[in-house]
Amino acid sequence: MEKTSKTFAIIGAGKVGTAIGHILQEKGFNIVAVASRSQESLDRAREFISGFKTHDVTKAARLADVVTITTNDDQVEPVCKKIAQEGGFNSEDIVFHVSGALSTNALNAAKKNGAKVGSIHPLQSFATVEGAICQLPGSVFGITAEEDILPLARGIVKALGGTAVVVKDEDKPLYHAAACVASNYFVGLIHFAQSIYEGLGVSREVALKALLPLIKGTLANIESQGSTRALTGPIARGDVVPVKQHLDAFGSKIPEKKKLYCELGKYTTLVALEKGTISEDKQRELYRLLEGGCIE
Ligand SMILES: NC(=O)c1ccc[n+]([C@@H]2O[C@H](COP(=O)([O-])OP(=O)(O)OC[C@H]3O[C@@H](n4cnc5c(N)ncnc54)[C@H](OP(=O)(O)O)[C@@H]3O)[C@@H](O)[C@H]2O)c1
Repeated sequence: MEKTSKTFAIIGAGKVGTAIGHILQEKGFNIVAVASRSQESLDRAREFISGFKTHDVTKAARLADVVTITTNDDQVEPVCKKIAQEGGFNSEDIVFHVSGALSTNALNAAKKNGAKVGSIHPLQSFATVEGAICQLPGSVFGITAEEDILPLARGIVKALGGTAVVVKDEDKPLYHAAACVASNYFVGLIHFAQSIYEGLGVSREVALKALLPLIKGTLANIESQGSTRALTGPIARGDVVPVKQHLDAFGSKIPEKKKLYCELGKYTTLVALEKGTISEDKQRELYRLLEGGCIE
């Protein structure tokens, strides 16, 4: 599907809504309305998207054939219900949300009014509107939609410069959990490593500077070799002594952080086994050692 003659409304002028609206407009899509709660967000949206700006979500929805609800997740269902109750949807309409966590059931109120519903989720992390405008192209999008609007969903993703992957509604929770692990928990993991250095008297900023080349080198290895072959370190080598030393040091200095170290280590023994650099016996030995560390 190339450019569509349909009109679009963006409901929720946050990071993702504003960025999606901006790129689609640049690609010739007709964004007729942007609705948001605060004046501040509407003013910001004005810099990126033309078209009618309003606080009235129903008014915005009425103007468009395709309504994209880009509010925070908790507001998707209530906003959709409000628009439906106020007669903002008809049977010709198409409604998308952009959440990775929510199923399309969050749009049931629109569906009951005859609209077709779906979701278009960018598998990416956006901290600002400007960042999202740069990062959306090249991202993968998980799309979930009724059969006859799948081509439109794919067309939107193509216009955004992304790659579409179809995700079933029932698979959304684990699809989203994996994204949280790879992005949010990765951030938590780096914070964890920084906090260990902090305990040694190194500032968090210096710790990050020290760790970043290692993190970037590891990411490059994951990209070129895949995650299994990218594994290095004592567990990949089957070296028990350094792991014992780590456990002793955690136990005596930072016992509250030992459990997480052990849980991550246990999983890592399975990656090393998959890599083929340790035997099953060695994997069991390391696993038991780390299991013992978890329950101490
Ligand atoms: N950020 C990411 O990394 C990311 C990645 C993938 C998907 N997503 C998805 O994108 C969606 C939006 O996330 P975001 O990061 O863009 O959040 P955000 O920056 O907080 O934007 C959400 C916007 O929704 C507006 N809003 C909330 N309730 C509203 C209501 N009742 N009526 C009208 N507008 C309302 C807010 O408007 P006001 O500012 O006017 O109050 C806010 O600007 C979510 O579904 C999220 O899961 C986000």
